[in-house]
Amino acid sequence: MREKKHSWYRDATIYSVDVKAFRDANGDGVGDFRGLTESLDYLSRLGVDCVWLLPFYPSPGRDNGYDVMDYYGVDPRLGTLGDFVEFVREAESRGIRVVVDLVVNHTSDQHPWFRKARENPDSKHRDFYLWADEKPDLRPDRGPIFPGEEDHVWSYDERADAYYYHRFYNFQPDLNVANPAVREEVKRILGFWLELGVAGFRIDAAGLLTQTKGLAEGELDDPHGFLREMRAFVSRRRSDAVLLAEADRPPAELGEYFGDGDEMHLLLNFQLNARLVLALARGESAPLASVLEKLPDPPADAGWANFLRNLDELNIGSLTEAEQADVYEAFAPDEDMRIYDRGIRRRLAPILAGDRDRFELAYSLLFSLPGTPIVVYGDEIGMGEDLGQSGRFAVRTPMQWSDEKNADFSTADPDDLVRPLVSDEAFGPEAVNVADQRTDPDSLLNWTSRLIRTRDEFPELARGDCTILDADHPGVFAHASTLDGDTVVAVHNLGDEAATVTLALNADPTPVFGDARFGPDGDDLHVSLPAHGYCWFRP
Ligand code: NOJ
Repeated sequence: MREKKHSWYRDATIYSVDVKAFRDANGDGVGDFRGLTESLDYLSRLGVDCVWLLPFYPSPGRDNGYDVMDYYGVDPRLGTLGDFVEFVREAESRGIRVVVDLVVNHTSDQHPWFRKARENPDSKHRDFYLWADEKPDLRPDRGPIFPGEEDHVWSYDERADAYYYHRFYNFQPDLNVANPAVREEVKRILGFWLELGVAGFRIDAAGLLTQTKGLAEGELDDPHGFLREMRAFVSRRRSDAVLLAEADRPPAELGEYFGDGDEMHLLLNFQLNARLVLALARGESAPLASVLEKLPDPPADAGWANFLRNLDELNIGSLTEAEQADVYEAFAPDEDMRIYDRGIRRRLAPILAGDRDRFELAYSLLFSLPGTPIVVYGDEIGMGEDLGQSGRFAVRTPMQWSDEKNADFSTADPDDLVRPLVSDEAFGPEAVNVADQRTDPDSLLNWTSRLIRTRDEFPELARGDCTILDADHPGVFAHASTLDGDTVVAVHNLGDEAATVTLALNADPTPVFGDARFGPDGDDLHVSLPAHGYCWFRP
């Protein structure tokens, strides 16, 4: 029997949840921790191993909670610390770990540190942030992250009579993470949530924590020092805790975020995400093969966190203009579906026009690639978006539990819901909901659950050595993953026509997921797949 590894996060399936949009237990229209706790049996049945919670801290809520005003609390609309602890305990009792978002690149401008900093130039909190007396020029490599919503990274604060630095919104002043006092505060925050039982942190904007900020030029003396400090601290307090970083950087820089195995355990794989989407849009495997070759090999016990969608824009900014044009044409033909001149504000099911075959193909591919897959709440049933909502809120609509009032998300008056539900016919709660899909063995929900559980049986996919196989067909991606002498081969047909490929495999295949026709032929194997077909097999 294979030993269960300490690096549990490499075999896990992570489910990301916006608590306020998931389930409302007290009927005030806002999802809460009690609702989430009540949903744990659902998550357990789905088969997820880890829940990543988007920020749930007290916040003015101007960036969906990524503007934190108290790192030690729970937004009162979502419950209490007591509710949080009960949730973590109940999750743990079902074998589900909890990872929380840690947002320490910036605070809310309502955080007491910023209030003190702006009021008193002599306060120790002044140096928690970055200031300038005159408005500095915009540096081309340090522009606003949300173009169109912000046009500068320095804003004037009347109280302080000075300009403060912010890469995100003007209400999110950047923390001066080069200041040792700030680093001490961050460790206190990490220590606090670890004591409450969390199994790790998703490090927001980690790609900015390694750069100089404000007026500082050049590079930090030790750009990755802060991330290493966090890792050392977290591993001391809880040796199996995971750090999952948001570092949306070019491939050549990504290896630095793993360090020598002394930095991040998992990196969100933005590079793969954009190429997966390009491959789906073009019906071609080449973008996948080329990105997998470019990505650095993670050190032992570290890996990639792969995803198809998250709750932000689908960022295709790292693709060439021609590639972006193809993705936009296929998946976001209307201007209103696009955002920030680099992304798509849609969910996966509508992007794929509700085509079940293509949805399965996309998720089967995601789950077969080396790394840890992440599923965004609602994607397991094929939820859609609401383009009537502003910006990224289009993809953050309430979970659709049934076709009853408010999709059973809440008993509140519909006008009091934290956000409106999706209302269109194809993807609204009448068409897409958990209750209907639970009882239908062929539903997407039950298919996703089988996908998750099948991957659990074949850890070679997640952590084995991956070899791309020559399928000699532009639409077909084939790879083999081997661990401790066991191999699984996965073949995916991205094209919209049936395909037969010849793999140089002397094999007597046993399918373990999906479907294909095989024709062993000496040292070769013929594999036939329908349009958008897929198959995982033991050779
Ligand atoms: C990344 C988060 O995913 C996004 O939602 C947020 O706006 C920014 N970080 C700023 O915290």
